[in-house]
Parts: sequence; structure tokens; C-alpha cells
Amino acid sequence: MSEQWAVGIDIGGTGIKVACVDSATGQLMEDQLRIPTPEPSTATHVAQAVGQALDQLEERSRHTIPHGIRSLPIGLAFPGSIRGGKVTFLGNLDQSWVGEDVTSVFSSVAGAECVFLNDADAAGLAEIRFGAGTQAHDKSVLMLTLGTGIGSALFTKGQLYPYTEFGHITVDGKNAERYASVSTKDRERLTYEEWAGRLQKYLDQIILLTNPELIIVGGWISSQHATWLHLIDSPVPVVTAQLHNDAGIVGAAMYAHEHA
Ligand code: BGC
Repeated sequence: MSEQWAVGIDIGGTGIKVACVDSATGQLMEDQLRIPTPEPSTATHVAQAVGQALDQLEERSRHTIPHGIRSLPIGLAFPGSIRGGKVTFLGNLDQSWVGEDVTSVFSSVAGAECVFLNDADAAGLAEIRFGAGTQAHDKSVLMLTLGTGIGSALFTKGQLYPYTEFGHITVDGKNAERYASVSTKDRERLTYEEWAGRLQKYLDQIILLTNPELIIVGGWISSQHATWLHLIDSPVPVVTAQLHNDAGIVGAAMYAHEHA
């Protein structure tokens, strides 16, 4: 049974979420641990915080994981891209991550061998396996996470094309993330109607570019779908995510279980 366990870590601009996950069912062993993202959010500072979170998790799971949390596969979802082992692009964290070999940084600072992946890719993997995409294995699926930024994950026949960054296409002359993210809605005090109008323009563009058969929308605002989803007109079914706040953690753990 313990070989099914893996650790999922989701690094966001404001918080870090960590949990032990049963990779066969997607269930969390206990409620996720949440700690604030350190400031400045350099890779070393974040790795220190992750190390402390793993120590806390170790304490909580001593009876279930006798060999220790760090003996499990550990997946770390973050808002950016990696190529050849180095970070090539980063969203809402300290830009000093770019060019870093983060696997080495986290291994020496947090004492953990982490498998890295993009946060929206992680959420998409979890939704396809356990959530809103379970019936869409034979389809092209676009997962969008709407929050501080806009994350994207593209699947065809259940296979992920990793590290897409469709939150950064240009819509109405602006970076889509600055135009239609939830943080922009809050910052510019847009009504749901105004924000949905912008999201509509974004979706029109992204549907043209990727031609999906299903769109899954995640992020906190997906739980508020009754206030805005009916304002969206799409030729493709748009459904809301089912794993909510746990999607990134679950996907990261699943990915680590398969790739560690
Ligand atoms: C980043 C993406 C990330 C998204 C959601 C964007 O700013 O570029 O990599 O998936 O935010 O966190």
C-alpha cells in the first residue's frame, strides 16, 4: 500500500501547498499543509520553506510512512517552464529562478529529490485522471487555470503536451494574463459581466489556436461558476474542475509516482 503514496507540492505566488497523496485514487492522506510563499521568492528561499513543510508532513505521517516522507516520490508543481533541467520561464515568482538547475537547489536545500512540472499541467493531469476529464480520454482537452495568472495544459488522447504557456498570448493588445486573469478582475474591480466579456475574447482566441474538444476551467473562480459560466458562449463544452484546490498537489504526486 505505501508504494502508492507520493508527495505533491504546489508552489504559488502567495502560498505553498503540500500533501501526501494516494496516487492510485487521488485521495489526500490528510488535509493539505499550507504555508506562505517566502519573500523574496527565490528558489533557495522557497526550497527552505518546502524543507520545513516536509518536516511537518514527516511528523504527521510517521505512522503511515515509516521510512520517512523523503523516501517517497516527490512532485513539485510551479508556475513556469523547464528545458534541459533549467528553468526557462517563470510566472509569478522571483525571476532569479530563471537559468537555475532547480533539481539541485531543492535537493541540497530541502533535502528532497523533487520531480518538477508546470502547475497547470499538474492540475490537468489530476482532472483528466480523477476529475472533470475522466470521460475525455479519446479527446483533445484544454485545461485552463484562472487565478493570479492563467495556466494552460493541453492533452490529446490523454497525453500531455507539457509546458504550454497560453496565458501569455496577446488579446486586445495585452498579455492575456494581464487582461483576463482573476487578479486582473480584482485589481481593476471588474464586474463578473465585464470580466466574462474579456474571458470570452480570450477563449475565442485560444479555441481558434488549439481547437480543443473540451475545456476544463480550474482555479478558485471555477467554484463560482454559477455567477459567470452562463455568460460564456463557446462552440466547445466548457466544464469546471472538480478537484478544486487539490488538483495541483494531486497531479504533482501522480506525476512523481510515474516519473521518479
Ligand atoms: C505562468 C504559468 C502558470 C500560471 C498559473 C502563469 O503566470 O506563466 O506557468 O501555469 O501562471 O500559475
